[in-house]
Amino acid sequence: MDQILILDFGSQYTQLIARRLRSLRVYCEILPFSATAEDILSRSPRGIILSGGPSSVYDADAPKPDLAILNLGVPILGVCYGMQLIAREYGGTVSKAAKREYGLSKLKILKGSRLFKGINGAVSVWMSHGDEVKKAPAGFHVTARAGGSDISAMENPDLNLYALQFHPEVHHTEHGTKMLENFARGICGYKEHWTPSSFLSESIAEIKKTAGGKTVICGLSGGVDSSVAAVLAHKAIGKKLSCIFVDTGLLRHGDRERMKEVFQDKFGYSLRIVDASALFLGRLKGVTSPERKRKIIGHTFIEVFDKEAKKVRDAAFLLQGTLYPDVIESVSVKGPSAVIKSHHNVGGLPAKMKLGLIEPLRYFFKDEVRELGRSLKIPEPVLMQHPFPGPGLAIRVLGEVTPDRLKILREADRLMREEIQAAGWYPKIWQAFCVLLPVRSVGVMGDERSYEYTIALRCVSSVDGMTADWSKLPHDLMHKISSRIVSEVRGVNRVVYDITSKPPATIEWE
Ligand code: XMP
Repeated sequence: MDQILILDFGSQYTQLIARRLRSLRVYCEILPFSATAEDILSRSPRGIILSGGPSSVYDADAPKPDLAILNLGVPILGVCYGMQLIAREYGGTVSKAAKREYGLSKLKILKGSRLFKGINGAVSVWMSHGDEVKKAPAGFHVTARAGGSDISAMENPDLNLYALQFHPEVHHTEHGTKMLENFARGICGYKEHWTPSSFLSESIAEIKKTAGGKTVICGLSGGVDSSVAAVLAHKAIGKKLSCIFVDTGLLRHGDRERMKEVFQDKFGYSLRIVDASALFLGRLKGVTSPERKRKIIGHTFIEVFDKEAKKVRDAAFLLQGTLYPDVIESVSVKGPSAVIKSHHNVGGLPAKMKLGLIEPLRYFFKDEVRELGRSLKIPEPVLMQHPFPGPGLAIRVLGEVTPDRLKILREADRLMREEIQAAGWYPKIWQAFCVLLPVRSVGVMGDERSYEYTIALRCVSSVDGMTADWSKLPHDLMHKISSRIVSEVRGVNRVVYDITSKPPATIEWE
């Protein structure tokens, strides 16, 4: 498969380069900056991108790529730190800028670079650097300047080397995606039209080969990732896929029924639904600390899952819905000592269970998993659902989790989602849910004084859950949600709307 390789020097934007290229239907992978020229060559890349990074090229311990890659004849694009590396290696001058540049700059494109094909005049670009190229190396042309004099782009087409001081991958850079497209398709000659489904037959064959006739266990969580992973695995090994769904008693209204409906009734998979709600609720009794709750739920989940898995004969592998961002994090510039992130929902399972791992989604981003799911005909309600945390409603019932409180929250949450869906807002937001606050306040219902709980509505927009902004829902929609909750859910007499972004707040309340 044709691909572009991105060497990661630690920039917060490295993943964005990959996402932009893939949105252009160009397949790419991210490797640590230290990948050897031999490894790189063995993948026959069409082009290489050197990412940005926090270091200075003149630091003694500055990360450097295997310099042999400069002579492979493969086109190279250096971005920010990547540009400074190229400048320094070829005899240019790099030094500390008088002032660290962060934010938008006006770029003037100077001459006919293939990187800027179809882009003319002045464009706004996103800068984030402390060092700058003061003098381009001999043989390099300066192709764009910012602020009248700064070297913002340079190239040496004879050596197939191109460099940008700014970040084309950042959304704020005008025509940035076009620049990446010019590099990949124009300069590197990448011709294919890659889609996540291009990997379908390959992934299926690989699962089959790895499983080698043994049984694979899948912990279905009800979320998008484990659902898509399960469908892929089922295509590969059919009845040898054994799915387990643990009902923790902390699920939303309809979650368990939907799993049964889709995977058991519609798809006909071997699915064991384990009702462990009494165990979970028993262990949560009297517990109010958010961290304690999370720990108890995590351990109990592993215990229940492990017990169920042991009942599956001949089980040799665990299927996991690990995504590319987790994989990249584990191989990034932080080096081999970086802790590999355990998957949120099944954290800790693999190490304890001594099963081999099958991770068919490890090269995909979330939006690509949805696209893959669509081509696998997974129903939209499964694919488009909002993320739901492993500890479930327990971290949305603040304070002690009791069956009564769970019931109130579950009902309010159902009404809220119903209204948001009816108003067409569900796909526009990242997450929408209710939180039950452990406070009561005074109200009046009919002629009677009430003293009941408060529900907080939490609706946020986000790209990856790392940062988030509260959603500006229309007032009439908020009004409808609030009146339905107060009139239909017993035990609630007040509804409030959370207007805090992340940071400083988190999306979940616990
Ligand atoms: P926070 O609350 O940290 O959440 O802003 C960021 C995103 O992660 C989800 N989340 C979790 N997901 N297990 C999960 O699978 C967890 O323990 C967990 N905690 C938070 C949260 O819903 C949001 O999408």
